[in-house]
Amino acid sequence: MMEPKRIAVFASGSGSNFQAIADAVRAGRLDVRIELLVCDRPQAKVVERAQEAGVPVHTFRPKEYPSREAYEQEILELLQNKQVDLVVLAGYMRILTPVLVNAYWGRMINIHPSLLPSFPGLHAVRQALEHGVKVTGITVHIVDGGLDSGPILAQRALEILPEDTEESLSERIHPMEHELLPEVIRQIASGQIDLERITNLKLKDGIKS
Ligand code: GRF
Repeated sequence: MMEPKRIAVFASGSGSNFQAIADAVRAGRLDVRIELLVCDRPQAKVVERAQEAGVPVHTFRPKEYPSREAYEQEILELLQNKQVDLVVLAGYMRILTPVLVNAYWGRMINIHPSLLPSFPGLHAVRQALEHGVKVTGITVHIVDGGLDSGPILAQRALEILPEDTEESLSERIHPMEHELLPEVIRQIASGQIDLERITNLKLKDGIKS
């Protein structure tokens, strides 16, 4: 039997998406091992969630390092020691440098609360509301060097209602994320989504963004 994939989750805040992954693993719906939670804010709620789920945690304070590359190098060593083969960014609020992006190119995914390529970056839900779009959604994509810009793996759409606020819309978006992200991880782990093929195709077509 194939060994389950070893994944690491990166998050900065509440970590409800981390929770959804951990719950799916615990319920036997997702056959992966969460080897590590990486968090740049030691006080974040996601740290408690990981401890409760029995997942090892690496927290760090970016300010205590001379550069972004320095803390990423430390993280990379941890990922390599634990033989992590898929990195999942789930509300990790930092731009990555080539240290991690290159090492995990094609093996790192991110979830973003908009229908990319619309509204990348911070406050995507607010951006969608301010723009006045009538449909928005969520995207899971492969991470490249850009801002929420890598090859798209899966999306779900939802309608924006006239009375929606950032809060009400986020409340409908979150449960969709909690379903889609574990599902995409499951498809990667089972080979239904072939990340290697997708990243090679992108390179061949010269689309590498
Ligand atoms: C999610 O909306 C995700 O799409 C975005 O950050 C948010 C994280 O929420 N990247 P949580 O910390 O998982 O609750």
